[in-house]
Amino acid sequence: MSNYHIKHLEEYYQVYRKSVREPDNFWEEVAEEHFLWRKKWDKVLEWDFKIPEVSWFQGAQLNITENCIDRHLTTRGDKTAILFEPNNPDEPAEHISYRELYKRVNKFANVLKAQGIKKGDRVCIYVPMIPELAISVLACARIGAIHSVVFAGFSSTALATRINDCDCKLIITADGSFRGDKTIDLKSIVDEALVSCPGVKTVLVVKRIHSEITMKAGRDLWLQPLLDTASAEGKAEVMDAEDPLFILYTSGSTGKPKGMVHTTAGYMVYTAYTFKNAFQYKENDVYWCTADIGWITGHSYIVYGPLCNGATSIMFEGVPHYPDFGRFWDIVQKHKVTQFYTAPTAIRALAKQGSELVEQYDLSSLKVLGSVGEPINEEAWHWYNDVVGKKKSPIIDSWWQTETGGIMIAPIPYVTPTKPTYATLPFIGVQPAIMNELGEELKGNQVEGRLCIKFPWPSMARTIWNNHQRYKDTYFSSFENMYFTGDGALRDEVGYYRITGRVDDVIIVSGHNLGTAPIEDAINEHPAVAESAIVGFPHDIKGFALYGYVTLKDAGEGRIHDNLRKEINQLITDRIGPIAKLDKIQFTQGLPKTRSGKIMRRILRKIAEKDTSNLGDTSTLLNPECVKDIIDQAI
Ligand code: WT7
Repeated sequence: MSNYHIKHLEEYYQVYRKSVREPDNFWEEVAEEHFLWRKKWDKVLEWDFKIPEVSWFQGAQLNITENCIDRHLTTRGDKTAILFEPNNPDEPAEHISYRELYKRVNKFANVLKAQGIKKGDRVCIYVPMIPELAISVLACARIGAIHSVVFAGFSSTALATRINDCDCKLIITADGSFRGDKTIDLKSIVDEALVSCPGVKTVLVVKRIHSEITMKAGRDLWLQPLLDTASAEGKAEVMDAEDPLFILYTSGSTGKPKGMVHTTAGYMVYTAYTFKNAFQYKENDVYWCTADIGWITGHSYIVYGPLCNGATSIMFEGVPHYPDFGRFWDIVQKHKVTQFYTAPTAIRALAKQGSELVEQYDLSSLKVLGSVGEPINEEAWHWYNDVVGKKKSPIIDSWWQTETGGIMIAPIPYVTPTKPTYATLPFIGVQPAIMNELGEELKGNQVEGRLCIKFPWPSMARTIWNNHQRYKDTYFSSFENMYFTGDGALRDEVGYYRITGRVDDVIIVSGHNLGTAPIEDAINEHPAVAESAIVGFPHDIKGFALYGYVTLKDAGEGRIHDNLRKEINQLITDRIGPIAKLDKIQFTQGLPKTRSGKIMRRILRKIAEKDTSNLGDTSTLLNPECVKDIIDQAI
């Protein structure tokens, strides 16, 4: 019988052991029993982390949307697949059944085809959290087009970079989006981006906010009239197991975002399997992940994982504080949510509002509480556990990454005993390793170091779009024969993992992964700026906030510092998006550097954290004298 659903701890250990000892047999059984294949594989796994190359279910053929939609039609045709909760609580929620989803995805797929989109073409999706976002993702997958969803909070420059990197010919967007009591003019952001994207021939526009927008003749088309006349039937394209399913960009240590490429079969099997187990999903549950589909969490655990299991998945358009801070709890009560998956930054913001607001709502439907995106601190963990979960709903602190495609380390609810701030045990099939700086694996318990994974898992990203060398350099070059995560971790006395945070140049702000390099590049564009360095410092809601050290040319030519600060943040907003704005900007005479000219972020980080007691030896710096000034003028 299948190992698809784990029900107790002993079974976890048993299945885990099997997944490690006989990975091929294990994943083959899961794949055999729970998915629809056009053709089965010739080989389960082939891999070599030295090249690096990984291939799962080689030779198999399938279409992921047949697994997400078609196969549910006979048994769950009338069941709600996507439950759309609009920004405005007075606007009725929309229940899209599996049958309805089938029709809408086919119509959309047929529209894309009519616009000349074929298997392998890249389609950019810049759409807010409305049903058309999930539907366009599935429509691309239906016809074998590779979707590249760009979070609809990114700026026009960030959007243009992502469109050009993978040569999208078509972009799907909306006239605008609702966010609490604000609206955002998405279409004008797209127009601005497209000035530098000559490859985009078609713009499909969803009407959402009914604003006045300009439509460029010969390029821009309203989506609805095209859908109205399109057929609601359509054959799914037959895809090879390793055909790319999507590209999703994540920031890295250079200014250029990395287009992580996920492929079809392994991604499907792993996201479906982890969804079932990490949330102990049962038929008729109502599952809600508050993430945006613009991030990997939304791809894997709003769209693909839940739909592969025939689940009801909520899509929420709004924000946690609109019309007030009770909105999340109102939605849980209204739709009788059983699994709730959110980020620590949201938990901290809601906890700050006190417990009374939560207590006004009936949250008795909740069975599982998930957390993802950054380490969850002790206080937030307890508040979530005690006030939201009433100590009855286990907290699933799930560690994973855009690159891993699915959950990697997390307790299985009602199976793995939880422990505050610990992501606990590796998921089935996941083989973590903790490494020291010399590249040696630290075996046994009670060790701390860098977190690597030493064996392939089905949903790992296969490459970086158009840059396999960078994929190798970033993930497979720090430690021999290992995937390096960029995170630090410790393993406690019983083998539980705790993620301690990034050990590279990535800073996680409100659960968003921000590379320091692109932000510094944006700041350095300012004509008065000579150079800059960004570090993170602890923030009670965001987890980390950004602290910028900025050296001006000619002391800024007498310009007023507060004005410069505004201009710098505006530049960051324009180049990346408002999520990357700096909380603090300190103007400096110079930045501490090593003799080879590398900025010593470690020192700047300590100063930003207001922990200057132990800066280490600064005498080897090229310019040790600047450190004292920076400390004296720290904000
Ligand atoms: C980075 C990946 C995976 C979906 C959202 C983020 C951090 C993620 C946890 C957690 C501690 C976490 C890591 C990771 N992270 N989840 N439960 N505990 N840290 O995806 O944007 O690719 O970011 O987020 O630092 O490397 P992402």
